[in-house]
Amino acid sequence: MTSDARGVDGDACIDLGTEEDAFTRGGNRLCFIDPRDRDRCIKVLRPDRLPALKRAEKGFPKNLKPLDRFDDNVQEFRVYERIRRAIGPRAHDFIPRLHGWVQTNFGEGLCSDLIRDADGRISITLKQYLWLHGMDEAIEQVLTAFSTGWAGSGMPSRNLLLHNMVVQTGAEGPARILVIDGLGWPDLLPLAYYWPALARRKASRKTRALRSSIESFLPKRGDRSDYGYHGWLEERQRGA
Ligand SMILES: Nc1ncnc2c1ncn2[C@@H]1O[C@H](COP(=O)(O)OP(=O)(O)OP(=O)(O)O)[C@@H](O)[C@H]1O
Ligand SMILES: [Mg+2]
Repeated sequence: MTSDARGVDGDACIDLGTEEDAFTRGGNRLCFIDPRDRDRCIKVLRPDRLPALKRAEKGFPKNLKPLDRFDDNVQEFRVYERIRRAIGPRAHDFIPRLHGWVQTNFGEGLCSDLIRDADGRISITLKQYLWLHGMDEAIEQVLTAFSTGWAGSGMPSRNLLLHNMVVQTGAEGPARILVIDGLGWPDLLPLAYYWPALARRKASRKTRALRSSIESFLPKRGDRSDYGYHGWLEERQRGA
């Protein structure tokens, strides 16, 4: 299936309520718990960040790009197709499963697995975990396993950002890290999709850059104003 032949689920429009009903939001999308299935989320474009508005902010020549290049859902859907062909099912050790397009009161939404901890609460981002606990032994182990697997599979991504990764916690503590945004090679000619050795090299570089970003982030712990806007879930947002 291509993004031009979207598998929108029948005609039924899912009512997601208002913006305030989203469990959280990123810089581009609102994230809702799927009212049909609490283990799935539906992401829609923020009404104040629609593709036409984002394109209008750009100067020449970026403002000549087609509108869907500014649509994070379309871009993500396409990347998932490429990941399916290049990596296959083992990619889902590191990224949620995608369930496709749905029609909502915010327009088309993209439905995927919602990552929850063993106790049912929505998992927090790696950024929030590190802020709360620092680099403890448990996360060190999980991060090492993630990095080895990510690099070994040649998973495609932009820079791995702490607010685009979540830590899924099991009964015994942190169990795995998943990347929920920022996927896909950003290169003009993304040869790495077709050349696994190159993909592994590039993915390995991303995991090393992630380590450096963690090192720069950790000293900021303590002063909440240094946390930034992204990637924090209050307890009430974690909807057990
Ligand atoms: N599948 C998921 N499972 C659990 N939490 C998620 C999931 N997807 C998103 N989140 C939460 O929602 C937040 C925002 O999601 P996401 O990064 O997809 O939005 P965005 O607007 O595309 O982000 P950006 O600002 O990076 O463009 C994440 O930081 C994370 O806390
Ligand atoms: Mg994000």
